[in-house]
Amino acid sequence: MKRISLALVCMMFSFFQVSAEEGMLIPSLIKAFEDDMQAMGMKLSAEDIYSVNKSSMKDAIMHFGGGCTAELVSDQGLLLTNHHCGYSQVQAHSSLENDYIKYGFWAKSRDQELANPSLTAARMVRIEDMTAAVFAGTEGLSGQAYDDKIKANIKELIAEAIEGTHYEAAIKPFNYGNEYYMIVQEIFRDVRLVGAPPSSVGKFGGDTDNWVWPRHTGDFSVFRIYAGADNKPAEYSPDNKPYKPLHYFPISMKDRVAGEFTMIYGFPGKTQQHLSSEHLRYIMDTERPARIAMREQSLSVIDASMRSSDLLRIQYASKQARIANGWKKWIGQIGGLQTVDAIQIKLDREKVYNDMAATKTEWQMKYSGIVSEMNQLVAEYKGSDFAYGMAIEYMYVGAESFKRSRDFEKFVNKYEELVELGELDEAIEGLRKQAKGFFKNYDEATDRKIFIKVTEEYIRRMQNIGLSELLKEQTAEELANDIYSNSVLINEARFEAFLAGLNDSTMALFSKNDPAFKLWKGMSAEFYQDVIPGVRTFNAKMDQLLKVYVEGKLEMFPNENHWADANSTLRITYGKLEGSAPHDGMAYTEHTTLDGIIAKNNSGEADFELLPDFRALAESKDYGGYDQDGELWVCFTGSNHTTGGNSGSPVIDAEGNLIGLNFDRSWESTMSDFMFDADRCRNITVDVRYVLWIIDKYAGATNLIDEMTLVKGKSKRKKRCCRKKKCKK
Ligand code: ARG
Ligand code: GLU
Repeated sequence: MKRISLALVCMMFSFFQVSAEEGMLIPSLIKAFEDDMQAMGMKLSAEDIYSVNKSSMKDAIMHFGGGCTAELVSDQGLLLTNHHCGYSQVQAHSSLENDYIKYGFWAKSRDQELANPSLTAARMVRIEDMTAAVFAGTEGLSGQAYDDKIKANIKELIAEAIEGTHYEAAIKPFNYGNEYYMIVQEIFRDVRLVGAPPSSVGKFGGDTDNWVWPRHTGDFSVFRIYAGADNKPAEYSPDNKPYKPLHYFPISMKDRVAGEFTMIYGFPGKTQQHLSSEHLRYIMDTERPARIAMREQSLSVIDASMRSSDLLRIQYASKQARIANGWKKWIGQIGGLQTVDAIQIKLDREKVYNDMAATKTEWQMKYSGIVSEMNQLVAEYKGSDFAYGMAIEYMYVGAESFKRSRDFEKFVNKYEELVELGELDEAIEGLRKQAKGFFKNYDEATDRKIFIKVTEEYIRRMQNIGLSELLKEQTAEELANDIYSNSVLINEARFEAFLAGLNDSTMALFSKNDPAFKLWKGMSAEFYQDVIPGVRTFNAKMDQLLKVYVEGKLEMFPNENHWADANSTLRITYGKLEGSAPHDGMAYTEHTTLDGIIAKNNSGEADFELLPDFRALAESKDYGGYDQDGELWVCFTGSNHTTGGNSGSPVIDAEGNLIGLNFDRSWESTMSDFMFDADRCRNITVDVRYVLWIIDKYAGATNLIDEMTLVKGKSKRKKRCCRKKKCKK
C-alpha cells in the first residue's frame, strides 16, 4: 500500500467541507469530474469507473427488472439488490405453506435457486453521444418532416450499432432533446432468487419508517444471473451456468468514517428539475394532494384487511407496498418543497433567467418569453393532466376489477380471430392460467370496499373537471353491488363457469352486460379519446419548451453546474457519508445500529415486529466480526443525489469497494426530484456488513459469503487524522 502523508490526508478532509454535489452524471463523461472526485478522496480513475476498452465498474451494475439497480458481488453471477426490488418475486414464490415473506428464503445450493419468468437484468455495454448523428440532415426541416428525419436517423443508428451482436440498443433524448445518447445493453433473462431475509428484516419499519430517517431496514435480497454455455444471455434453462461477469464488487469490511467519499452508480428513473413555477405550484397544490387522497382510500381498506388475516396479509403485501410507497413519498415532497419555499426559489431563478436573456438581442429573441409560455401551457392543460392522474389512480391503482377487465379485453378483441383459427381452446386454457395467478392474490370483499371508497373520492375530486356519465347514473355503492354480485371477472367460480360454457352468444352477452367490463369499456374509451390526447399534447409541447429553456440555461449560464434530468439510464452521483440537520434544534447522526432495532421492537408496534430467533441473535450481540468498535451498523446516510430506480444501487467507497446498498431517501429530501438542497438531501443505505451478518449469522448461508471477496483492514484515514496517537505505523 502506498503511504499517504498526514498532511495530504488532512488536506482531503478540508476538501470534505465543500458542499455535496447536485446532479446525476453520465458515466461516459465522468472524466470531467475525476479531479473533483479525487479531491474528495476518491482513489480511482475515470477509466476504473467507466471504460469501453477494458472491464470497469459499470460492468458490475445491472438494471434489475427495468426499475431497480443491482450489483454483481461474485465471479459466479451473484447479485445484490433491495428486498423491495425482489419483493414481487419473493411474493410470487410464497404461499401459506412456504411463507417466504414472513420467514425469508435461502437457497443452500444452486439447485434450490428459484427461476423468475420475465425478470431481466441488463448490463450497459456502452453509452455514446449521438447528438450530431441524430440531427444529421435535419437542417432546414421543421415540423413533421423534422421529427420524421430524426426518427429515421435513430432507427438507422440503432440497427447499425447492434448488427451482428446479441445486444439491444436505444437512443434516448437527454436535456429534452438538446442531446441524444445511445445506450447499448446486454439483457440477461435467467435471473434466479437465491435469498431474501424475513420481511421483519427486509422491510423492518414498514410504512412507519419508509422514507424516514433514522432507519433500520435490512433492505436486501440476493439473486443470481445465469447464462448459456457461451456466457451470453439465454432464456431460462436448467442447463444454464452462473454468469461469469467482467467485473464484480469486492466488499469493504473496513471501518466507515463520517465524511468519507461515497459514490452511487445506478439507474435513477425520473427527475424534474426544470419545471416552471406555475407547473410546480399546480403539482404541489392540486395534483399531488388529489392523488394522495385517492391512495388513502385504498390503503385504509387494504391495511385493515391485511391486519385481519395471514392470507390477506400475504395476498396484498406487494400491492400495498407499491401503493403506499408513492403515497408517502408525495407527502414528503410537498412538505419539503413548502419548507424551502420552492415556488419562491423558482420565481427568483426565473427572474435571473429572464434578466440574463434581456442582455442580448439574440438571447432575448430565443429565451425571454419561454418561462411565461411554460406557465401558460400549464394553465391551459392542467385540466387534462389532472384528469389523467386521477384516471391512473382510479383505473390502474384502485380496485382490481379494472385490471381484470383490462386483461380480459385482450381476449374479447381477439375472440373472432381465435375462433376462425381454431385456437379458442388454447386461449381459454391461457385465461384459466392467468385467472389462477390473479385470484391467488385477490380478495373480493377487499376489492369491493376499495372500489366503493375510491369511486367516491374520484367523483368528489373530478366534479369540477368533468365526470363520466357512467358515474352519474348510480352511486358508488350501487355500482359495486352490481359489479361484485354479477360480473364474471372478479369471482373465481363465476369465471370458471363462464369459461366452461363459453360460446358466441355468451360472449355477446358478456360484452353487452358484464357490469365490471362495461364500466371499464366506457371509462377507458373516454380516457383514450378525451384525456390521453390532451396529455400527450401537453407533454409534447412542454418538452419542446423545456428544450429551449434548458438550452438557454446551458448557453447563458455556462459556468453553472448543469446535469441532464434522470431518464432511467445509468448515472453516477457522488458525495460523502454524512448526517444532516433538516429541522431546527435537532440533528440526524449518519448511522444507525442493531441496538436501535431492539429499541424500536420494544415499542410493540406492528411495523417493528421481529421473529423471535432474530431478536435472540440480536440480543446475543454475536456480531461475527461485522461490527465496528463494538457496534453493528445497520444503515447510514450520505449526500448523494438519488431518486427512484436507484434502489439497490451500489454505494461505493473511495477504493471502489462496496460499502452498502442504496434503498431510500429521508423524507425531508424526497423533494430532490424537483429541487436538490445540499443541506437537506440524504440518501439512505443499508450497510453491506449488516447484509453479510444476516446472511452469515442469521441465515447460515455461508456458501454465499464464501463466494464474495471481502476487503479487510481498518480505515487508515481515520487513524491518521482523527486518532493521531495511532498514526505511527
Ligand atoms: N421508499 C423506498 C422506495 O421508494 C422503499 C420502498 C419499499 N418499502 C416499503 N415500506 N414500501 O422504493
Ligand atoms: N426506494 C427507491 C427505489 O425503489 C429509492 C428511493 C428514492 O426514491 O430515492 O428506487
